[in-house]
Order: sequence, then structure tokens, then C-alpha cells
Amino acid sequence: MKILWNDKIVDESEVRIDTEDRGYQFGDGIYEVIRIYEGLLYMEEEHLERFWHCADKIRLTLPFTKEEFSQRLHHFAEEVGIENGRLYFQITHGTAKPRLHDFPDAKEVMPVLTADIQTANRPVEKLEKGIRGGFVTDKRWLHCDIKSISLLGNILALNEAKENGYDDAVLVRDGIVTETSASNLWMVKEGILYTHPDGELILPGITKIKVRELATTLGIQLIEEPFTKEQLIEADECFKTSSVAEVMPIVSIDGKNIGKGTPGTVTKQLQKAYIDAIEESVKKM
Ligand code: PDD
Repeated sequence: MKILWNDKIVDESEVRIDTEDRGYQFGDGIYEVIRIYEGLLYMEEEHLERFWHCADKIRLTLPFTKEEFSQRLHHFAEEVGIENGRLYFQITHGTAKPRLHDFPDAKEVMPVLTADIQTANRPVEKLEKGIRGGFVTDKRWLHCDIKSISLLGNILALNEAKENGYDDAVLVRDGIVTETSASNLWMVKEGILYTHPDGELILPGITKIKVRELATTLGIQLIEEPFTKEQLIEADECFKTSSVAEVMPIVSIDGKNIGKGTPGTVTKQLQKAYIDAIEESVKKM
């Protein structure tokens, strides 16, 4: 597999990450996942925008401009040649010795970037049938808006849900539904779409930006305000969104059907609009 390692494209066997890399030592880094459809880096600009914001939040000075980085990613994608896949990239605060919690001096320590592209097909069967969620207490930190490589909180939640026989964790903090282990969460009640507002309790999803836009076009009213787990159980429809899961129906939570226990009308409308929007962007490429 080819890896983009800082400014070089190398075979994975050539990559050397120091044991003192702050990503490896502290989880001190950020990442992004971009879906590639027919060679198009879907919503690249928005992903880069979030990457830059997250870098600021962890006081990481990116050693390139957005334009330079975009060119580097495009060149890498051409070299790898995967038409339908997902591009993953992460950057850490670099290697600083001795091991100290203090951020290293940006003039002396270079951040370390790696990226890879792997084939990914759309999760068609799950998109049609939906998945089963299970409530899990959201015990993550209060910087969920940072796309941090420290994902232990999310991993623990996902695995707790899986141990209980569910496909994903629907996270609940103080009675309020926030998001899922790796996606934003939505419900539909009496034709109105609800999702948790952006802020420190959730990741501001790029797919969320698109779904907001599509809801407006389709004339679906959207309210971004917190709702409780009891309200969610009583909802007509529920789905989650991410670059990988797209618009994924959640048909039951804790074994209780949401609505009829099948993907709902609004969910299906948004699923179709999402695919149409991708096809439209691919055509314009
Ligand atoms: N996950 N919330 C969390 C906690 C996430 O990890 C993600 C993305 C999202 C949705 O973000 P977006 O729409 O930009 O993909 C929300 C990615 C896919 C991952 O970690 O693999």
C-alpha cells in the first residue's frame, strides 16, 4: 500500500514513525476521512476547512497552505488510482525528545503527516435495511468538536453497544442524545427533522452540512436543538450521517422499533437526495 508520508509518497514498509511521536505517545494529533467517488474527493473544501480549524484548536501549525495540501492530496490520489474509496489522513505534533507534555516549539519540531487511500464500497445493504442502535452513556471529553486521533471514548462506546448486540452506540450525555460513535444523529418527528446543535459535545459533520442543505432544498423543516432519549424513542424516524455511513437509517434502539422499524420516508428522501448530489458533483468534476 502507498502512503503519503509528509511530502513523499512511499511504500508502507518505508514509513518510520518514531516511538516518541506525540501521536503515538499522547494521541496528540487530528485526522480527516474523505470519501472518494469516481475519483472525486467529495466535499474536499469543507473537510480541509475543518482540518484547519481543528489544527488551530490543538495549536498545531500546519506546515503547508490549503492549496499546497490539496495539490498534494490530489497527486497522491492519482498515484494510488483508487476510484471509489476513502482517503484517511492524520497529522501529529511530531517527535519531541525527551517525552514532555508541553507542546514542542513549532520552529524546532515538524508535525508528522500520514495518509492512505483504501477501496470502500457504499454500504448498500445496510442503507436499505437500516441498523440497530443501543444507548450508551457519552463519557467522552468536552472537546468532541475536535477530530482528534484519540478515539478511545468513541471506541469504548461502540464496543459496549456491540457487546450488547447492537450495531452502533447512540450516545447520551445527561439525558440528551448527542451523536453516535462515529456519526451525527438525527430524528424525524411529525415531518420535522431534529439534530443536536454544533458545539463542544459533537463533531460538526461534513455530511451534516450537506444534509442541512438538502433539507432546505426539499422543504423539510430542520431544528437544531438538543432532544432526550425518551423523545428519540418516540420519534417517527432516526438516522445517522457520516462520510462513510452516508445517510444510514437506525431502525431500532435498545430493541425498540423507531416508527415502523424500517427506514422512514424522510430518511429515504434524504438518502436519494444525497446520492443525487454526489452524482451531480461527479458530473461537474
Ligand atoms: N467519523 N461524529 C463523529 C464522532 C465522527 O467520528 C464522525 C466521522 C462524524 C461525521 O462526520 P463527517 O460527516 O464529517 O464524516 C460525526 C469518520 C467517518 C471516522 O472517524 O471514520
